[in-house]
Amino acid sequence: MATATPNLLQPPNFTCVKSLSESSALTSIPSTYTFTTDPNQLLAFEPQHSIPIIDFSLLTSGDPDQRSRAIQDLDQACLEWGFFMLINHGVPESLMTGMIEACRGFFDLTEEEKREFQGTHVLSPIRCGTSFNARVDQILFWRDFLKVFVHPQFHSPSKPAGFSEVCLEYTQSIRKVVGELLRGISKSLGLEEWYIDKTMNMDSGLQILIANLYPPCPQPEYAMGLPPHSDHSFLTLLIQNGIGGLQVQHKGHWVDVNPIPNSILVNTGDHLEVLSNGKYKSILHRAVVNNKTTRISLAVSNGPSLDTVVEPAPELSQPSTYVGMTFKEYLELQQGNKLDGKTCLDRVRIKTM
Ligand code: OGA
Ligand code: NI
Repeated sequence: MATATPNLLQPPNFTCVKSLSESSALTSIPSTYTFTTDPNQLLAFEPQHSIPIIDFSLLTSGDPDQRSRAIQDLDQACLEWGFFMLINHGVPESLMTGMIEACRGFFDLTEEEKREFQGTHVLSPIRCGTSFNARVDQILFWRDFLKVFVHPQFHSPSKPAGFSEVCLEYTQSIRKVVGELLRGISKSLGLEEWYIDKTMNMDSGLQILIANLYPPCPQPEYAMGLPPHSDHSFLTLLIQNGIGGLQVQHKGHWVDVNPIPNSILVNTGDHLEVLSNGKYKSILHRAVVNNKTTRISLAVSNGPSLDTVVEPAPELSQPSTYVGMTFKEYLELQQGNKLDGKTCLDRVRIKTM
């Protein structure tokens, strides 16, 4: 049975894990944060060499051979992993660092100041909080977050000073990169280059900045930053402050991601899985925590416009194995419930016996 969607958030009782972590007496985690009692559950492998690398400069190359080779690489990366590291993307390192520091500045605001940005609905354009969905999470996650809708309308918290400027510049640069990636992916699916752009109304596509803060945790082997999940949207682009914690699932194993410096981590989302009729599966990933340093990660999700119905492209092999649903409905379902693997995607999957 589907659980009722608690889209309306209750009035605040906002406690962030940052304050909890900073209370000096903390030597163990409160029991509400115990995700597992088996410390081996959060371990992962490190086959670093095999995570695909995509060279963005080849994808945008004027040389047709180079470009078509880059598109083949993109196809392989999406097929085999649903995850890759993007290099030579052209987003300045100073802008990436500036955005991370601006988000740190946001999390450093007092709880009182942050309360103003709590949001009332899962589709509130500015919303900060803790865990994933503290109203329904039975176990809390060791994570504070800020989510901001930056396109088609640009929103931004009014604090800290300078946040809005760097956020606009950063998310616009990411948007350009995503446009190019989606053109490459349209081609790698055998569709016309602008297919996703046009049919998914990317001109008014929803882009969300998600800043994650994972403060030091006294018992990282028992707590979880973000549980295994797939992302909504087509592509998520993620950067971090040099501290690891992201793990992706590959062929049934968890793999630690140690990014190439200055690269952008890209993962495929549920809506690319639907649009490609299951060819490019959205990747399961999770975030573990550590007991030494605060980790900040910034994910930017890139989806269609809210009222676009996402369904398998009729041009691709039939029969369709997913039903169409508007992006808005999907977002309300995913964001309004517990974050749990690919259970949201299962709701649009057509079961074949
Ligand atoms: C996310 C996410 C992973 C990380 O925000 O959806 O998966 O490493 N983040 O913070
Ligand atoms: Ni994610």
